[in-house]
Amino acid sequence: MDQSGLTRLPISHIKGVLMNFEFLPFGSGRRVCPGLNMGIAAIELALANLLYCFNWELPSGISKEDINMDEISDFTLRKKFPLHLIPIKHNWQ
Ligand code: HEM
Repeated sequence: MDQSGLTRLPISHIKGVLMNFEFLPFGSGRRVCPGLNMGIAAIELALANLLYCFNWELPSGISKEDINMDEISDFTLRKKFPLHLIPIKHNWQ
C-alpha cells in the first residue's frame, strides 16, 4: 500500500493476469467482448443514478474509520468485507 492508499501490483503480477484470460472481465485478443464500451457505460450509468438519486449513510454505530477496504482476489478483485450503506432518497427541490 502506498501513500495514496492504493495497493500497487508488481509488473510480473500484471503480466500474469494478462496471460490468464479468466481474470479479464471482457476477455482479451481476437475474441474480446465487442460490447466492452457499452457494458462499461451501462455500469457507469447505473452507478451515476444511484449516486444522483440517493444520499448514502453509514448504519448507526458505524463510523467511516470502521470501513474495511481490504480486497480479496479470486475470480475477480473485490472487497473482502461488503460495504453496508443506507440509501436516503435525495430531494432535489
Ligand atoms: C459488463 C458487461 C459485459 C461483460 C462483463 C462481458 C464479458 C464478455 C466476455 C468475458 C466475453 C468473452 C470474451 C472472450 O472470449 O475472450 C464476451 C463476449 C462477447 N460479448 Fe460481452 N460482456 C459484457 C457486455 C456485452 C454487451 C453489452 C454486448 C452487446 C451489446 C456484448 C456482446 C458480446 C459478444 C457478441 C461476445 C462474443 C465475441 C466473440 O466471441 O467474438 N457483451 N463478453
